[in-house]
Amino acid sequence: MAEAMTGLHRSHRCTEVTSDMVGQKVTLMGWVQKRRNLGSLIFVDLRDRSGLMQIVFDEPVIGSEGFEKAESLRSEFVIAVVGTVQKRSAAVNENLKTGDIEVAAENLRILSESKTPPFPIEEGISTKDEVRLKYRYLDLRRPDIQKNLMLRSKVCGIIRDFMLKEGFLEIETPILQKSTPEGARDYLVPSRIHPGSFYALPQSPQLFKQLLMCSGYDRYFQIARCFRDEDLRADRQPEFTQVDMEMSFVDVDDVIDVNERLLARVFSEAIGVEVPLPIPRMTWQEAMDRFGSDKPDIRFGMELTDVSDVVAGCGFGVFSGAIADGGTVRGINVKGQAKMPRKKIDKLVEFARSCGAKGLAYVCVNEDGSYKSSFAKFMTEEEMDRLVQKMDGQPGDLLLFAADRFKTAVEVLGALRLNLAKELELYDPSEFAFLWVVDFPQFEWSDEQNRYLAMHHPFTMPYEEDLPMLLTDPGKVRAKAYDIVLNGCELGGGSVRIHQDDVQEKMFEALGFTVEEAHDRFGFLLDAFSYGVPPHAGLAFGLDRMIMLMTGADSIRDVIAFPKVKDASDLMTEAPTPVDDKQLEELSLKVVIETEE
Ligand code: AMO
Ligand code: AMP
Repeated sequence: MAEAMTGLHRSHRCTEVTSDMVGQKVTLMGWVQKRRNLGSLIFVDLRDRSGLMQIVFDEPVIGSEGFEKAESLRSEFVIAVVGTVQKRSAAVNENLKTGDIEVAAENLRILSESKTPPFPIEEGISTKDEVRLKYRYLDLRRPDIQKNLMLRSKVCGIIRDFMLKEGFLEIETPILQKSTPEGARDYLVPSRIHPGSFYALPQSPQLFKQLLMCSGYDRYFQIARCFRDEDLRADRQPEFTQVDMEMSFVDVDDVIDVNERLLARVFSEAIGVEVPLPIPRMTWQEAMDRFGSDKPDIRFGMELTDVSDVVAGCGFGVFSGAIADGGTVRGINVKGQAKMPRKKIDKLVEFARSCGAKGLAYVCVNEDGSYKSSFAKFMTEEEMDRLVQKMDGQPGDLLLFAADRFKTAVEVLGALRLNLAKELELYDPSEFAFLWVVDFPQFEWSDEQNRYLAMHHPFTMPYEEDLPMLLTDPGKVRAKAYDIVLNGCELGGGSVRIHQDDVQEKMFEALGFTVEEAHDRFGFLLDAFSYGVPPHAGLAFGLDRMIMLMTGADSIRDVIAFPKVKDASDLMTEAPTPVDDKQLEELSLKVVIETEE
């Protein structure tokens, strides 16, 4: 039977009670973690979001009725206990913050009873994700998830404090927006009042924050919810949160300066990690050349080597052919792994193929200096020696090579590098290695669309000296765009924006938009820019990813209260669901589901 809490006031959370308070009366409320009957004594671990407190029920103290009630307690019952703090009578529990004290109950109320939960409310359970997410409200009671969400709240507080002190204004931008597809797929919201018309949910506040600069707000920030209808991964959700900002009268260095100070403050205050400033910077080209990734994990070596010059014209057609076709040959040296079993090497080849490689060539440098290799038979001894030398191959090393177009070759080795480092434990998982990747290419060629796409977005400013190539050689234009990378994860990104209309028009032309198309989509921005626009630049962090990396969680799901699963559904509420015909009618919508034959 559930009782009311009338007349009681919670005095403390469980772990707010300390050994200095022995003899003091407290009122605690929370969930029963565990009950143990020891004959004349009953012990209950009481849990709230702060942690656990041992409650002891002793019949002479609580009376026979209270003792009987205590005997009926079961896991997850919600109770209120009034009692006196005392030193523990039984063994001190060193693992517990309140391990040397307990509360001797004088009054017990059962505020709510509970069914047996489908999984234990404890840290590190092995319950399937599907079950945890179906009962997310129970999963959220577990201390590890509670710690993550409490850290998230703390980080948001630090960010707000820092940004306000730096003169940023917190301003909200609309959730119902105009659809301006470019980038990910939009989530659409049908309009009732305008049949056949749709709003889009924001992929980011990008255009509005630029308009705020136009309107003179100077420094804006927002902890903003964003929506992208894209394929989910461990670090991607259809709705996620950005720490979004924009600044006027600034260039690259100003944005980087504020943001690295923000990161240093957040990491220091929230988790006690000191970030040495300035954070190192690397150009996109260097990142791709050395690490085969635009978000390199710099906690370990195994860098890529360009061996094109030593294999050009060699006897192995895969290598010489790739170079003759304008491609490249790159390698990585997996130190001390020459004895890797053939089966495992085959797995690496398989993995390389799954990343788009045509194959993966290897050389094992044996202890006696001889080679075991997939292509030695096509090469002269001299050619092999030169290649191994270029790779700094020592006895015991395993050398892996990819011959392909630049992008494929480096990205395949970059992915192998990450996989091997994880398996061989080449880095310290508790280290935090930040890196700015700067000078991204302005455009990326899309084979699929047969046109250049903006690598960041169409409002990103190219380097002034590269402007003449905008229409003649777009592939060579570098953008004033920057990403902040942490341990191989893209934590955030931004750019200096175009504020001159002639540059913006050329940009649209390079992207294959006609003037009309550009005005149709972004007319309001272009119009606004004709009324006096300051030079401006900004950046957005992925808040979920930041918290994931800070907590060491495997997925951003573990730092979002109510996340979605891989197929973008919510296992608890079962959204998305079909809606009534009446709702559809009001929206002038008809659903046609095409079934495959
Ligand atoms: P961008 O698209 O790079 O830039 O996004 C910024 C950061 O948001 C995070 N992020 C995501 N996190 C979780 N799930 C997702 N689906 C997801 N997509 C992105 C990443 C990313 O670095 N308006 C620009 C910023 C700017 O130019 O100022 C923007 O949105 O951590
Ligand atoms: P093949 O002559 O196709 O049997 O290939 C000989 C070796 O070269 C095999 O180990 C292949 O995996 C490897 N290989 C094939 N294509 C490539 C490539 N583009 N880059 C690197 N290695 C390759």
